Amino acid sequence: MKSLITTLIAATIAVTPIYSLADHKPYHVDVQVPELSDRLAKGQKVFNVNCGGCHGINGAGSTSGPPLIHDIYNPGHHGNNAFIRAMQNGVRSHHWPFGDMPAQKQMGLGDMMHVIRFIRETQDHNGIKTKAHNM
Ligand code: HEC
Repeated sequence: MKSLITTLIAATIAVTPIYSLADHKPYHVDVQVPELSDRLAKGQKVFNVNCGGCHGINGAGSTSGPPLIHDIYNPGHHGNNAFIRAMQNGVRSHHWPFGDMPAQKQMGLGDMMHVIRFIRETQDHNGIKTKAHNM
């Protein structure tokens, strides 16, 4: 009986991540930061202070949140409105196994736009281009 339970637990652990997360790896990516204008450097700073703890420095991902320099966050799938909504309201976990994202009430609209510009420029520099949303 004990060995049956052990086998079942082992099988569940083995199958679950592959099954539910297959589309959303990796959790950490190598990010090349483009040359930054003063305005983009400001966005980078605001991002790393407010978002980097979960989304990793420069959006590379961490053990607490997904990378944003990732194909699923290309502008065609998660447009700028989705970014603003995420910061204003938080996000229910649906793509990743990290749990919910809390609303970032400390962020004003100006800082949000700085962050979005930095993310878009860095996505583009890392080969993440707009793709039509067909999921
Ligand atoms: C406490 C951790 C945490 C912080 C801080 C955080 N996020 Fe998130 N964020 C997450 C997690 C976890 C998810 C993934 C939810 C899912 O889809 O499973 C997420 C998802 C997102 C998404 C995707 C929204 C969607 O519609 O799927 C965006 C955009 C985003 N975050 C932007 C930001 C920005 C910009 C900041 C900083 C202002 C930030 N996050 C700060 C944890 C965090």
